[in-house]
Amino acid sequence: MAKLAKKQQPKQKNEEDVRILISRSRLQRRITEMAREIRKDFPNEPLHLVGVLKGAVFFLTDLGQQIPGDVSFDFIAVSSYGVGTHSSGQVRLTRDLDSSIEGKTVIIVEDILDTGMTLQYLLRIFDQRKPKCLRVAVLLDKPERRIAAVQADYVGFTIPNEFVVGYGLDYAERYRNLPDVGVLTLPTVATNAAKVG
Ligand code: PRP
Repeated sequence: MAKLAKKQQPKQKNEEDVRILISRSRLQRRITEMAREIRKDFPNEPLHLVGVLKGAVFFLTDLGQQIPGDVSFDFIAVSSYGVGTHSSGQVRLTRDLDSSIEGKTVIIVEDILDTGMTLQYLLRIFDQRKPKCLRVAVLLDKPERRIAAVQADYVGFTIPNEFVVGYGLDYAERYRNLPDVGVLTLPTVATNAAKVG
């Protein structure tokens, strides 16, 4: 995770533990529904899905496979920085798109909408590039943590203010490969060391 400095930390317990919050089957069922909703809103349009690296990779590939018709992909990467418990609001582009989005129907695909600072930045730069239409699909929405006034058009699950990992979401780059989304707790002794990374 690139943003440990500003993001919330996992809770601490005696041992490291991941408790399943959303199982793989629930994830897949909801993603299939989201794909239907998206195609229903744009029945005849080519759709250009833009995944935000790295967390959105599994969500984008599963969502993309469930949307029938003409679908293309691209990826973008951003990083935010600033120390302290809250976002400094500074987000920067670390990998740009391969192709222009001008005139395209674009769907930004994000794993999680947390403070909203990343999405606020992406919406601003994408708007400047004149897409025909711009929408946002997020798998997880954590509204309690919102700082920026942004929202998604398609939301998989609204979740409580817990530190989640799995299905693309990481803690210090670990746990992305879990097929479920779970709540992470860390052992008390490991937490300070992990903060450094
Ligand atoms: C996560 C997530 C979103 C962003 C949301 O990315 O993938 O892009 O944070 O947070 P926000 O709403 O508070 O801005 P992260 O920087 O952890 O990178 P990663 O996807 O590579 O893990």
